[in-house]
Amino acid sequence: MELIEGIKTRRSIRKFTDEKVSRDTIETIIDAARFAPTWKNSQTPRYVVVDSREVMEKIALEGVMGREHNAGIIRGAAALVVLTSVKGISGYNADGSFTTAKGNEWQMFDAGIAAQTFCLAAHNYGVGSVIMGIFDEREVGRIIGLDTSRVVSALIAIGYPAQEPNPPKREDVGEYVKFI
Ligand SMILES: Cc1cc2nc3c(=O)[nH]c(=O)nc-3n(C[C@H](O)[C@H](O)[C@H](O)COP(=O)(O)O)c2cc1C
Repeated sequence: MELIEGIKTRRSIRKFTDEKVSRDTIETIIDAARFAPTWKNSQTPRYVVVDSREVMEKIALEGVMGREHNAGIIRGAAALVVLTSVKGISGYNADGSFTTAKGNEWQMFDAGIAAQTFCLAAHNYGVGSVIMGIFDEREVGRIIGLDTSRVVSALIAIGYPAQEPNPPKREDVGEYVKFI
């Protein structure tokens, strides 16, 4: 798929077919996503792939702050990718102090780039995805057995698309840019 076409045609997919996405395909997507840039190439994003129906149901029930919208997406997905980040590296100097006034925000910045790279790679292989920001970080971490060196940065539901949503309206490019 041509790059600009892929960027423009990727959509958040919230309804999926019953077809499984193989672990091989998911690994191929993550193989591409690991080329996302990170703070000083710290490579702090890590993917925990949940394809156990039991664990997905637990996250739908206990991990999305009661948001039925997101619970329904998880229940209908082929798998739920929990994007986690290794703490204390991105945005930090070697002595543990922050490098910039943004503190540890760079950790989430890295996760955001990783999430979009993952979704674009998934799109390239015909796999639909939606990034979800409404979840309970502690509950999801507990359910997947995350250790204290990492945080949950985002959830990404994936599966083969059962819908072709129209693109939500974007502002014109003139609204996005100012040349000075
Ligand atoms: C940080 C972030 C958090 C989001 N959280 C949710 C969410 O919790 N549930 C959901 O259905 N969609 C969520 N979305 C998807 C957005 O609603 C979607 O990207 C936006 O409407 C634009 O549509 P598009 O992705 O098809 O271009 C999230 C997207 C981002 C980037």
